[in-house]
Amino acid sequence: MKIDPKTQDKFFNILKAVVIPRPIAFVSSQSKDEVVNLAPFSFFNGVCYDPPTISISIARFAGKKPKDSLVNIEETGEFVINLVNRNMAEAMNKTAAEYPSEVNEFELAGLTATPSELVKAPRVLESPVSLECKLIQVVPVNEGSRKECGLVLAEVVYCHIKDELFDGRYVDMKGLNVIGRLGGHDYCELGNFFKMKLQVYTPET
Ligand SMILES: Cc1cc2nc3c(=O)[nH]c(=O)nc-3n(C[C@H](O)[C@H](O)[C@H](O)COP(=O)(O)O)c2cc1C
Repeated sequence: MKIDPKTQDKFFNILKAVVIPRPIAFVSSQSKDEVVNLAPFSFFNGVCYDPPTISISIARFAGKKPKDSLVNIEETGEFVINLVNRNMAEAMNKTAAEYPSEVNEFELAGLTATPSELVKAPRVLESPVSLECKLIQVVPVNEGSRKECGLVLAEVVYCHIKDELFDGRYVDMKGLNVIGRLGGHDYCELGNFFKMKLQVYTPET
């Protein structure tokens, strides 16, 4: 089948089902008035190694209401990405509804807010890894449209990882037990791992 996204009413559903699995950035942020916010975003990825840089794409609006996370990130230039393990999945899901700005999603989801080192927003204590981030730039995508997104580019300035998940050299990736976002209402746990060394090209002399 051939599909032209412009003629497919809900191509978004196809996109979400084929760009998989997506890691989840569980973003804690706070407003300039220090109202704390927590919400998940799966259009999330690494961008550069040095300085460590990540991207998250956040729709500017949910209906007519601006998404608090993007407002807070633009206002303060800071936030934390908390990874989501299987035990946190249901709590994470609770925070994704469109609550009024003043709602503290940490309390609502029964998660613990604990202070960060270099940014004002708290991190999620239960999370296996938290990455404190400082904003580099918000790149507007589809600017001016109702479907505008802000592509957030940010530097990771501090990293928290549970002691038992890092031996000083390697991360225990299975131990992270992170979940991935798929299409529809589906999520995944990590399955079988396999190794493959990077292919090296050696020109013949
Ligand atoms: C697993 C998951 C992934 C999501 N990924 C995104 C995303 O990548 N971009 C986005 O704009 N919204 C995404 N959402 C929806 C937001 O979490 C939702 O709009 C949330 O209410 C925004 O909260 P805020 O207004 O407090 O920022 C996702 C929701 C879930 C459950």
